[in-house]
Amino acid sequence: MDDPGNLLTPNDFRKAARQALERSAYDYFISGSDAQKLKRRNRAAWDALEIRHRVLVDVSKVDTSTELLGLKLPFPAMIAPMAYQRLAHPVGELATARASAASGVPLVVSTMANVALEEIAGVKRAPLWFQLYCHRDREITKDLIQRAEAAGYRALVVTVDAPVLGRRLADERNAFDLPKGLTRANLDRYAGSGSVASDGSELAELFRTRQDASLTWDDIDWIRSLTKLPVLLKGIVRGDDAKRAADAGCAGVIVSNHGGRQLDASIASARALPEVVAGVEDRIPVLVDGGIEWGADILRALALGAKAVLIGRPILWGLAVAGEAGVRRVLEIYQEDFTRATQLAGCASITDIDSDLL
Ligand SMILES: Cc1cc2nc3c(=O)[nH]c(=O)nc-3n(C[C@H](O)[C@H](O)[C@H](O)COP(=O)(O)O)c2cc1C
Repeated sequence: MDDPGNLLTPNDFRKAARQALERSAYDYFISGSDAQKLKRRNRAAWDALEIRHRVLVDVSKVDTSTELLGLKLPFPAMIAPMAYQRLAHPVGELATARASAASGVPLVVSTMANVALEEIAGVKRAPLWFQLYCHRDREITKDLIQRAEAAGYRALVVTVDAPVLGRRLADERNAFDLPKGLTRANLDRYAGSGSVASDGSELAELFRTRQDASLTWDDIDWIRSLTKLPVLLKGIVRGDDAKRAADAGCAGVIVSNHGGRQLDASIASARALPEVVAGVEDRIPVLVDGGIEWGADILRALALGAKAVLIGRPILWGLAVAGEAGVRRVLEIYQEDFTRATQLAGCASITDIDSDLL
């Protein structure tokens, strides 16, 4: 395996991870849905945003830290919720949580984790949020929320862009399934929550049979009624939905198209972000993910009004290459890159990053 010290960018980590991973696992991680065009458009939309950098500003000291819903972030980024991390590395989500604790970058733990949420919460000083998929069986949903709150998670992220699973052709072709020995650990305790038979992608079949495609705004009220935790909605791309989330008492929204894994025809995150920012009128924070590859993309997101970004696949590449150390290095690369981009844009603090840069 390459020395992680020689891997300088998220894309270097991706190439190394490709060597390290089973083909079907790499395909599961990297894939978008259908023709996979949105993944490219996510990237292209960030690239299209040109920064009008300021000059002759003293940027010898830069403070990149920020606060978000009671958490202190070393720089405006978090780790996106991603399923099945023991496919990337045997220690899986525990390694990601340890890297989160070491770096201070908060982690959003997926409902579909391979390690139980309580065990992940046992990692000292890891700042954690819990991502919720709403099950058709409301008792399971309710129990997951109560377990997350009891275990010390600091917020609940309800994913709302997946009433059904997007079609990932590689997973169908590979008949993708969890290898023996790996489970959806958060769900193990519920009756009838094991594998489902499928000729194609097991995950797709699981969504068809267990997830709730009938979820509406009323259910968001119900979820909020069950917990004191702040509730954020993930997968918002419209101003009217963002406004409705704020009206409904949500604590934040995440502009996301699931990394191009749901509706391939959906709008690129960077193009949706301004409308969502306008929709919430500063009432609640707006986060964004999808194709964040460079520090300059974080700068661009903040210039458009986001409070922070979520980093997705590159975390899995770090995990696959070197476990906890790999995730730490990937996070360091983002932080260094963001700091440099901020300095080069002529900003001494992240409060200097605003729409005037675009
Ligand atoms: C392998 C993989 C698994 C994911 N699992 C989940 C999940 O369980 N819940 C969720 O809300 N989003 C999930 N996502 C979407 C991410 O949270 C995030 O929106 C997306 O990956 C961001 O795009 P990026 O990978 O281009 O950074 C997953 C994404 C990937 C790549």
